[in-house]
Amino acid sequence: MTVIGLESSCDESAVAIVRRAPNGRIDVLAEQVLSQHAAHAPFGGVVPEIAARAHAEVMDALVAQTLAEAKLTLDRIDAIAATAGPGLIGGVMAALMTAKGLALGSGKPLIAVNHLEGHALSPRLVEPIDFPYLLLLVSGGHTQLLIAEGVGRYHRLGSTLDDAAGEAFDKTAKVMGLGFPGGPALERAAEAGDPSRIALPKPLQGRPGFDFSFAGLKTAARQNWESLDSPAPKDTADLAAAMQARIAESLAERTAFAMDHFARAYPEKNAPVLVVAGGVASNRTIRKALDLAASDKGFRLLAPPMKWCTDNAAMIALVGAEHFVRGRTDPLDTPARARWPLDAASAKLQPAIGSGRKGPKA
Ligand code: KG4
Ligand code: ZN
Repeated sequence: MTVIGLESSCDESAVAIVRRAPNGRIDVLAEQVLSQHAAHAPFGGVVPEIAARAHAEVMDALVAQTLAEAKLTLDRIDAIAATAGPGLIGGVMAALMTAKGLALGSGKPLIAVNHLEGHALSPRLVEPIDFPYLLLLVSGGHTQLLIAEGVGRYHRLGSTLDDAAGEAFDKTAKVMGLGFPGGPALERAAEAGDPSRIALPKPLQGRPGFDFSFAGLKTAARQNWESLDSPAPKDTADLAAAMQARIAESLAERTAFAMDHFARAYPEKNAPVLVVAGGVASNRTIRKALDLAASDKGFRLLAPPMKWCTDNAAMIALVGAEHFVRGRTDPLDTPARARWPLDAASAKLQPAIGSGRKGPKA
């Protein structure tokens, strides 16, 4: 089965074609990612209107390039998948509308993909993983712990009460003038830093539960920065290192609680797996902290390679293929959605618990 996937929910325009073998093995035949970072850099953050316009300008050319790279034409494609949310609505519409046009013109089925499910299944681009597994989803808009029970079946254990981890990275980097995108810039700045010189709070430390909070930490980092008259390079490096260390520790601690919970819920599961996905999963300090926590709890940590941690279309095509093989397709009037919880059941029980601007939107 061959599926083309389109992605434009934030600031990467991406198209990919994957082939799914009957045994579930995935081959990525071609993929294109066009980052808009340069367009947003002068503003220190993603500007929705600029993003939407830039996606709309390149989407059909990217489709043509990806088909050419795979040496395929549309009649050889079995289904057309596109992110239908959650994300910046104008951006989401660019890929979804292009996919609808392709579906209408070719008569192939459309599959509307939840972007978060793309991140959730992304390690399966490398190897098939048996369900259930524990999933830490850490991106610019989301920080959640979920149990992935099967394709389309996710149970949320906890999420951020305010800011997402990526948001805390981005906003702190912006305050410190480190550049955009903030996460990788802060990681680079932290390389030469001492994470223990500057005292920053440890969010929710020791408190049981699976939720996260990063707004207080972000504010403390900003206050520390603003208290410096003329920050020396060492101040920059040490503050970045302290911020990164506190985020890594908090993610590892809350995830360790969730691993205990998972082990109690699935006592029969041998060699349980912890998957970490989303843009923040490309941070090496965070991976190291999670790796330690996982081996301490007898879990195997799986993280997709860097290029599939951040936004990409291979993961969207993969989700499309997994749904299509299970017989699910979507009508052409499927709407684009700014919000779309991965776990509809607990989202209903537990509507927005925080006040963060981008906080717990799913
Ligand atoms: O998954 P993603 O590409 O887009 C969303 O769906 O949000 O994640 C982007 C987020 C941004 O907040 C970015 O700063 C963060 O991931 N990020 C990082 C690193 N690389 C990307 N954060 C920390 N360290 C990194 N190396
Ligand atoms: Zn993402």
